[in-house]
Amino acid sequence: MKPETKLAAGTPPPLDRATVHSYRDGQPGPFYYQRDSHPVGVDAERRLSELEGGEALLFSSGMAAVTALCLALLEPGSHVAVADGGYYGTVGLLRGELARWGVQVSVFDQTAEPPQADIVWLEPCSNPMLTFPDIAAVCERTHADGGRVVVDNTVLSPLFLRPLEHGADIVLHSASKILGGHHDALLGVLACADEQTAARLRAFRNASGIVAAPDPAWLLIRGMKTLGLRAERQSASALELARRLAGHPAVQTVRYPGLGDPVAARYLRAFGPLLSFDVADGERALAVERALRLIENATSLGGVASTLESRARWEGERVPAGLLRLSVGLEDVDDLWADLEQALEAAA
Ligand SMILES: Cc1ncc(COP(=O)(O)O)c(C=O)c1O
Repeated sequence: MKPETKLAAGTPPPLDRATVHSYRDGQPGPFYYQRDSHPVGVDAERRLSELEGGEALLFSSGMAAVTALCLALLEPGSHVAVADGGYYGTVGLLRGELARWGVQVSVFDQTAEPPQADIVWLEPCSNPMLTFPDIAAVCERTHADGGRVVVDNTVLSPLFLRPLEHGADIVLHSASKILGGHHDALLGVLACADEQTAARLRAFRNASGIVAAPDPAWLLIRGMKTLGLRAERQSASALELARRLAGHPAVQTVRYPGLGDPVAARYLRAFGPLLSFDVADGERALAVERALRLIENATSLGGVASTLESRARWEGERVPAGLLRLSVGLEDVDDLWADLEQALEAAA
């Protein structure tokens, strides 16, 4: 069965908000306390497990999933090698909060050989630098060195990339992005290749209480029903806009794996909703933001409404001052282009 069919099929579950379910004959049933599990969450996890091809667990945000993974699977002295140019929150957490727990962190170019590490952390179509790793080669090398590979699959979704099939050990999502798709639910996901890791993470989740509530889980189930259509259309529009931006005189660089990245082309048939491009400097980037009329000047990515922002605002010198990150939504591509053109002209 194709992923599109799995996504769309079936009726939604009832929105059961109960935090407790009564014991039967003096015994707790499969659901007894919401922190352990709840029917809507289990339904969402079943759908996610089928899509990713490994046992999936839901968390209260993408960063909650990152936190659970690190605290449950790392030890003082563990080494994590994180892809350069990837989500700044991940490396920020590892280098900030987790530094006190003695976790060693290095940053590496994910398009080259990975360093030896306990966990090698990849981000295909890294946010916001849009680099793409040879996932199978990194997995082979890391496993030979005794390490594990985590793939943050937030940008592409399991519709376009299923990292467990290429040898990854754990797949991570901020489901707040394209999986949910409507900027109205904050959630995270970890999908595991092996049952022991899933059991370890499940136990940690229950003990720590970083669980997803039924309401966002229900919105995720509804959002995923249209993931097939949304991701195809958003990717097609992103490719078209990347091509048009590459020919615009005010644009210095466009980053989108669909513009000829040979490694990405081996793994993907479509390249996701996210791209970034540079204008001359930070001042002009902010002027583009202010001139937008249709595209939302907002953070985040993967929603049905397009969003654009200067990333230097959050990431400082980690990114070029003139870098603008664009997440392409479902609006008509010519309307989006007209807005970008007028904003670039206004900022010139
Ligand atoms: C690639 C990536 N991973 C993880 C996260 C963290 O997810 P959340 O905001 O749901 O905590 C984000 C958020 O922007 C992201 O872009």
